[in-house]
Amino acid sequence: MQTEQIVILDFGSQYTQLIARRIRELSVFSIVLPFHTPADKIRELAPQGIILSGGPASVYAPKSPHPDKNVFSLGIPILGICYGTQLMGFHLGGKVAHSDKREYGRAELRVKDALCQLFKNVSETETVWMSHGDRVEKLPKGFSMVADSTNSPVAAMEDRARRFYGIQFHPEVVHTPRGKEILANFAYEICGCRGTWTMHNFIEQAKADIRKQVGSDRVILGLSGGVDSSVAAVLIHEAVGDQLTCVFVNNGLLRHGEAEAVQEILGQHFHIRLKYVDATKQFLRGLKGVTDPERKRKIIGREFIRVFESAVEGLNRAENPKSKIQNPKSPYRFLAQGTLYPDVIESVPVGGNPAALIKSHHNVGGLPKRMTFELLEPLRTLFKDEVRKVGEALGLPREVVWRQPFPGPGLAVRILGAITPERLRIVREADAIVIEEMKKSDWYYKIWQSFAVLLPVRTVGVMGDERTYDHVVAIRAVDSQDGMTADWVKLPYELLGRISTRIINEVKGCNRVCFDISSKPPSTIEWE
Ligand code: XMP
Repeated sequence: MQTEQIVILDFGSQYTQLIARRIRELSVFSIVLPFHTPADKIRELAPQGIILSGGPASVYAPKSPHPDKNVFSLGIPILGICYGTQLMGFHLGGKVAHSDKREYGRAELRVKDALCQLFKNVSETETVWMSHGDRVEKLPKGFSMVADSTNSPVAAMEDRARRFYGIQFHPEVVHTPRGKEILANFAYEICGCRGTWTMHNFIEQAKADIRKQVGSDRVILGLSGGVDSSVAAVLIHEAVGDQLTCVFVNNGLLRHGEAEAVQEILGQHFHIRLKYVDATKQFLRGLKGVTDPERKRKIIGREFIRVFESAVEGLNRAENPKSKIQNPKSPYRFLAQGTLYPDVIESVPVGGNPAALIKSHHNVGGLPKRMTFELLEPLRTLFKDEVRKVGEALGLPREVVWRQPFPGPGLAVRILGAITPERLRIVREADAIVIEEMKKSDWYYKIWQSFAVLLPVRTVGVMGDERTYDHVVAIRAVDSQDGMTADWVKLPYELLGRISTRIINEVKGCNRVCFDISSKPPSTIEWE
């Protein structure tokens, strides 16, 4: 069955992925493609509609991104958003000009044509979010103006015959309150979509695809306990049962109770074949005396690969007990990963540099060449919120589905300075208190991340009649959409007070608690 879908061509807007998510919220599948995708390729995909995203460039600028002109001849409805509208104006024979009056922020949209399908059930005047310098000044042939705003004589235009629409504002952002209806009008009324893409359909289709790809072979999956790898594990297990084996490595840097919870939920409850490897000693040996955060990450990445490789070899030997060779032909043909859509969208830097690498993130990647697997990535078309919905539909508990992100190097990057069993104990106990209190007050589920960090200083305190000289713990609580930027969360004083009192009373060796009030940028979320 051909899934109905809308193709979004990316011209570099920070909101492109948001457009894709909004369309999917309408139960219509959407994909993001680079702006220069050939029209023939789009024709092959046979989408119901095409959206041209916004972008930071000006259509007349020498290196500005332009689509393959033939996209306008495919006979497929098109919606241009902001820069996308200017592109339509430019390529279809209108005139785009730089306006002295930049329109930025809220604006009032005045709909002039009540019959325009794009504004069906939308009021005559609507608040919309604008962010542009250029604007369409002369309509292309075949178009008519359907809405204006104070600074845009053409805030929306339509070529009803060709089903081409251009809007100067951003319907995908929350500051355009009726934006979702406008996108729904495009998808349903103009493109004729029916909204058949649901999580239930996704799961059924994904299971069929997994069975087809895997056949009778075996799959191995490195489980981290996070939502992505857990959902991937349960989904694959539903599809191919015991052909899947998960390897869960305890690197000694996990949070309190985490190793037990993963084994209980995925192993005992979901009956997934789970190989648990406690490599605490090996990791801590490698990290002994290491204080530099990047070196910590490298060592953890290296040790993980070693442990994972020997776990796979152990599994191979168990399958081929008579084999004397070190690395018998592995019956594990596939390596499953919880890769998500934002990791696979081909990003084309248009104007400006690609985001600079600030910290190296070492997770499962980079397996040695001799370990050859085919990749199985059943979540690679999904956004995080969709993975959570799949997780819920598969019956994973709230604590897994709504777990806050936790870095692969774990507590190692939350202990500033050297990692010792004693310092691990302090940060782990403090962190458990933070999580417990955050969950009790329900704040845990409202924000992106909250955790404890152990600082490399000691301070003087007094307990009873005695002077203490003990460790300091910092509490970090941030809100974020995607981890790229973040703001510190104004947790209630009573909650902060309770966390502090409990940490100082219950965690031996800690006599002071601070609260981190920095945002990202210029700080980062983790301290290391
Ligand atoms: P930063 O500290 O860079 O964090 O602002 C952004 C997001 O990434 C997580 N993070 C990591 N995740 N390996 C990971 O898997 C890492 O080395 C790592 N460092 C940071 C961090 O928890 C936040 O969600």
